[in-house]
Amino acid sequence: MANDLLKGKRGIIFGALNDMSIAWKVAERAHEEGAQFVLSNAPVALRLGEINVLAEKCGAEVIGADATSSEDLDALVEKSMDQLGGKIDFVLHSIGMSPNVRKGKHYTDVNYDWYHKTMDISAISLHRTIRALLEKDAMSEWGSIVALTYIAAQRVFPDYNDMADAKSLLESITRSFGYHMGERKKVRVNTISQSPTMTTAGSGVKGFDEFVSYADAMSPLGNANALACADYCISMFSDLTRYVTMQNLFHDGGFSNTGVSMKVIEKFAK
Ligand SMILES: NC(=O)c1ccc[n+]([C@@H]2O[C@H](COP(=O)([O-])OP(=O)(O)OC[C@H]3O[C@@H](n4cnc5c(N)ncnc54)[C@H](O)[C@@H]3O)[C@@H](O)[C@H]2O)c1
Repeated sequence: MANDLLKGKRGIIFGALNDMSIAWKVAERAHEEGAQFVLSNAPVALRLGEINVLAEKCGAEVIGADATSSEDLDALVEKSMDQLGGKIDFVLHSIGMSPNVRKGKHYTDVNYDWYHKTMDISAISLHRTIRALLEKDAMSEWGSIVALTYIAAQRVFPDYNDMADAKSLLESITRSFGYHMGERKKVRVNTISQSPTMTTAGSGVKGFDEFVSYADAMSPLGNANALACADYCISMFSDLTRYVTMQNLFHDGGFSNTGVSMKVIEKFAK
C-alpha cells in the first residue's frame, strides 16, 4: 500500500543488519513511498554483506559509519548530501548494542567499560548524529529524526540490563536536542517505543521468547511487528506529523497502558 508519502524526500537509515531488522523494513517501506536514501551501518556489520541486497532493491548507496565516531558521522552526512543531491528530510536511528547483555553480565555486576560502550553506541550516538546534522546544516526545515526505543526506559524489565539505562538516556537526548532542533531548524525529533520484536538485537536479551509471548498477552492489540513499526516510522517522516516533536511515542498494541490483561490473569486462575 504505497501513497507517495515520502515522494521527493531524502533520508539516512541506520541499522539494517538483515531482513529481520526493523530498519530493513523501514527502508523497504520508505522506498515504496518514493523516498531516496542512504543506508548506513557499522563497518563490521557491512562486512556481513546482507545490506547490499537491500541497497540494490531500494537503489540506495551504502555508506559505513561507526555511530560512536563523530568523524565517521560527519563524513556520512556530507557524503549523503552529495549522493542524494540536497539536504536530508528524515533520519532513522535504529542502533543498539550492549556488550554486557551480549556477554551475559548481570546488571548488578556490569563491566563499566562495557557500560560506557552501551551508552555510547545505543544513546550518545543519537546526540553525535544530530550534532553532525546541525553543524553541517544538513536537515531540511520540517525534517524528522526518529530513534527506536523500548519501555524498559520507564519500567523495570530485569534482563534488559544496562540497555534500560541507555534507552532512558536516548529518550532524554530526544527531548533536549529536539528542543534545540525545533527552535533553530524547525526539525522534529522523536522516539518510537516498539513492542518486543524478533530481531538480532532483540533475541540477544535473556528469556526473550517468553517475554515476547508475555507482552503479546498483555497488549489488547497484541505485539506490533517490525513492518507495523516501519509504517509508523513512515508516518513520522511524512508531512502529516509536522508538529509532533520531543515525544516518546508508544507503538506497542496498548501494552504501556495496561495494568493487567484477562489473558494474563487467566494464567493464575486456581
Ligand atoms: N527488537 C526489539 O525487541 C526492539 C524493541 C524496541 C526497540 N528496539 C530497538 O530497535 C533498534 C533496532 O534494533 P533491531 O531490533 O532492529 O535489531 P538489529 O540487531 O537488527 O539492529 C541493531 C543495529 O545496530 C547496529 N549497530 C550496533 N553497533 C553499531 C555501531 N557502533 N555503529 C552503527 N551501528 C551499530 C547493528 O549493526 C544493527 O544493524 C535498536 O535501537 C533496538 O534497541 C528493538
